[in-house]
Amino acid sequence: MSSLCTSSSTSKKRRILLIEDTVPLAKLYIEFLRADAHEVVHCTRGGEALDAAAASPPDAVILDLKLPDMDGLEVLQALHARDASVSVVIITAHGSIDLAVEAMKLSAFDFIVKPFNADRLNLTLRNALERRTLARMVEGYRKDLDRGRFHGFIGSSPEMQAVYRTIESVAASRANVFITGESGTGKEVAAQAIHRASPRRDGAFVALNCAAIPKDLLESEIFGHVKGAFTGASGDRPGAALLADGGTLFLDEICEMPFDLQSKLLRFVQTGTVNPVGSGREERVDVRFVAATNRDPLAEVQAARFREDLYYRLHVIPLVLPPLRDRGDDVIEIARTFLFDYAREEGKALAAFTPEVEARLRAHDWPGNVRQLQNVIRNVVVLNDGPQVTLDMLPPMSGPDAASCAACGSPSADLPERDDAVQPLWQVEKEMIQKALRLTGDDVPRAALMLEISPSTIYRKLQQWRIADGRSAGETAA
Ligand SMILES: Nc1ncnc2c1ncn2[C@@H]1O[C@H](COP(=O)(O)OP(=O)(O)OP(=O)(O)O)[C@@H](O)[C@H]1O
Ligand SMILES: [Mg+2]
Repeated sequence: MSSLCTSSSTSKKRRILLIEDTVPLAKLYIEFLRADAHEVVHCTRGGEALDAAAASPPDAVILDLKLPDMDGLEVLQALHARDASVSVVIITAHGSIDLAVEAMKLSAFDFIVKPFNADRLNLTLRNALERRTLARMVEGYRKDLDRGRFHGFIGSSPEMQAVYRTIESVAASRANVFITGESGTGKEVAAQAIHRASPRRDGAFVALNCAAIPKDLLESEIFGHVKGAFTGASGDRPGAALLADGGTLFLDEICEMPFDLQSKLLRFVQTGTVNPVGSGREERVDVRFVAATNRDPLAEVQAARFREDLYYRLHVIPLVLPPLRDRGDDVIEIARTFLFDYAREEGKALAAFTPEVEARLRAHDWPGNVRQLQNVIRNVVVLNDGPQVTLDMLPPMSGPDAASCAACGSPSADLPERDDAVQPLWQVEKEMIQKALRLTGDDVPRAALMLEISPSTIYRKLQQWRIADGRSAGETAA
């Protein structure tokens, strides 16, 4: 009798571990099973079978309980201890049905009484493998529920788990992805996650913001140019398309791309070839496209601002990022991580939020989404000290009221011009800073850019106003 395990195949088929000490019977079962084309590993002894299972976990086990070296029930328990989702089918002689029942109590999947035919064995095995698949799926979902971080994202809400799953399943393919979501929801984080989870991760990730680049430069930014192509083109320069060769090209704010350039981009998406500005030659590149917008792309198509043919080329896999207000307790998870990171960066002791602050963060509408939350926490950390973040440390946060007010323009725009409409300069300054903060979702550096002042000026002003507000509240109370 051989004491070595033997394998019927080395392919990637479902792996069956057959533990049967009577070799002629084992050969017969293997013949039965071959009809279903599995990879069968045969062992005659319990100890060797456990070693084989440890070396390469089986999907199902066919176990004869009468073994020369070990009690079959022990083998069963050891297999389950190693892998709770493995399905074990017991084969037993007529006289040992009690033992088989005992095995069922120890969570064997099923038992078959000898002698049996190929159909009986294969049917039971198919069920066992099916159960294994289901058990794996449940395990996978449980893991998902526990997943609070994913390639730069923080958040365990079911809404974000769905985003993570989509990213994982599209990452392996070359299909173009179209990301939509309000400003600050993490569209760029998602584009990077797709790249990092994809086989192109060793290639470049090139992000091109179609809104941030002047229209007349955009074509050369994408496709590159040759020396002398236009005034100032002092040498050949590769565009984003060539730089992203073998990697991912992220076309951010795609709806802002000028209409005439959209047809050139469409050609690139269709043919995979680019034509640098001023050059007659075509270059072939291999890129995966990920596009994003915070507009409604179909509305842009209907308004004839975005080419329908380009939309359908890019919109192969849609990925929608939910607004932060729909992500439940993710707000707190994200806020705590930002607090920890920024406190460490700024050398502050702030380590937690009071329950009132958490309630406030949870209840807020977050029109600027994660970016706004990030800025609020940065603001708190820069301007405050102490072990805990308390309500009075929170800056004024633009919410639904402020957002709708910003949408209807300056609050005084409809007032008739009057001599006394001239306001003190400090008040104009305060209103302008507050407006810039509202428009940028409390992004101090971006607001500073809009106002053409430094971010530290804004931080200083915010602190002065907070102190002044605190003083006047104190005076009122007194
Ligand atoms: N789930 C998240 N966890 C942690 N950080 C996040 C998350 N989502 C976004 N961020 C951070 O928030 C900021 C804004 O994200 P990002 O730039 O990807 O948003 P966006 O949707 O592209 O915004 P916009 O439409 O304004 O371009 C970034 O600093 C990003 O790192
Ligand atoms: Mg973005």
